[in-house]
Amino acid sequence: MIGSALLAGLPALGLAGLAAASPAGALTERTITPLACLVFGDIVSPWWLKKCQSHLDLVVIDLRSAAEYSVSHIPGSVSLPFEPVSAWSEMGPGDLLLEMPPSASVFATLGAAGVSNPSPATKIVLVNGVDVPAFPQAASPRVATTLKYAGISEGRVSVLDGGFPAWQAESYPVTTVVPTPAAKTFTSTEDRSFLVDKEYVRARINRKSEHIYLIDGRGAAVYNGSVIEEWALKPGHIPSAVSLPAEYIWNADGSWKSPLELLALLRGAVGYGVSRSYGEIVVYCGVGGYASSWYFVLTRILGFENVKMYDGSAQEWSLYYDMEL
Ligand SMILES: *[C@@H]1O[C@H](CO)[C@@H](O)[C@H](O)[C@H]1NC(C)=O
Repeated sequence: MIGSALLAGLPALGLAGLAAASPAGALTERTITPLACLVFGDIVSPWWLKKCQSHLDLVVIDLRSAAEYSVSHIPGSVSLPFEPVSAWSEMGPGDLLLEMPPSASVFATLGAAGVSNPSPATKIVLVNGVDVPAFPQAASPRVATTLKYAGISEGRVSVLDGGFPAWQAESYPVTTVVPTPAAKTFTSTEDRSFLVDKEYVRARINRKSEHIYLIDGRGAAVYNGSVIEEWALKPGHIPSAVSLPAEYIWNADGSWKSPLELLALLRGAVGYGVSRSYGEIVVYCGVGGYASSWYFVLTRILGFENVKMYDGSAQEWSLYYDMEL
């Protein structure tokens, strides 16, 4: 009875074709959703995606450039490139790069890509490219935070581990065929609860004794002021921030490091006093991409409960306040 109760409950999870039976009443292999597909992880492997793509109400979004997509992509994946001014981000007041776009335009983009909400609530897998520096890797967590801001629950958004190169490395099928997704209506409620402004950050300087940490996700040379990025007016970092370069989040092949490795990186930077359940971590970087990467790691992979993201980042901060060397 446990088995049938489980099967009876599964359609409520929004799984396509799960309990469809043949005329004889027997479940056929083709119609049964593999158990592995019931677990929709924060990071999914290429084999999981290949196995589960046809069993779930899943939209695969390719964040690479239109040119890369046109050469080769995962069958059925939709092209929505991540660029500073794109469906995913826009120029903010005072030419701030990579700010959240109006939520209504994110809703429209998602609806056109075939994402519906809430029923059946489509799940989304994000696919990035891989390069050095790790800007393409950061595209997926950046878009994941944009989707959170657009009101999509985090449990519905996954990242493909190792991005498109990992799919290719398995010799899985690729195509140049561009799908035409059936447009859906998508609306949700904007969530700005995790986004903070410069005054919020300013009020959190030098509060490590209260377990309140500012984390700088840029490279070490940018943090210490020996390199100045083009969008920051001043060298250095926000006073009292610790350096935790986002490039360390990934292995050389673009796959994500393990939770234990990521926790060790965090503790190496801020100390063992850091706790999942008390205190606070505010992440920032140059314009917001690497900050999103740490936001994803801390909240989705490591389970930290009180994390905020300063989207204006060093670009905005350096317009108003001093940096520290
Ligand atoms: C700044 O960081 C870079 C990269 O780690 C390092 O090579 C350089 O020596 C540092 N400079 C100072 C002044 O600390």
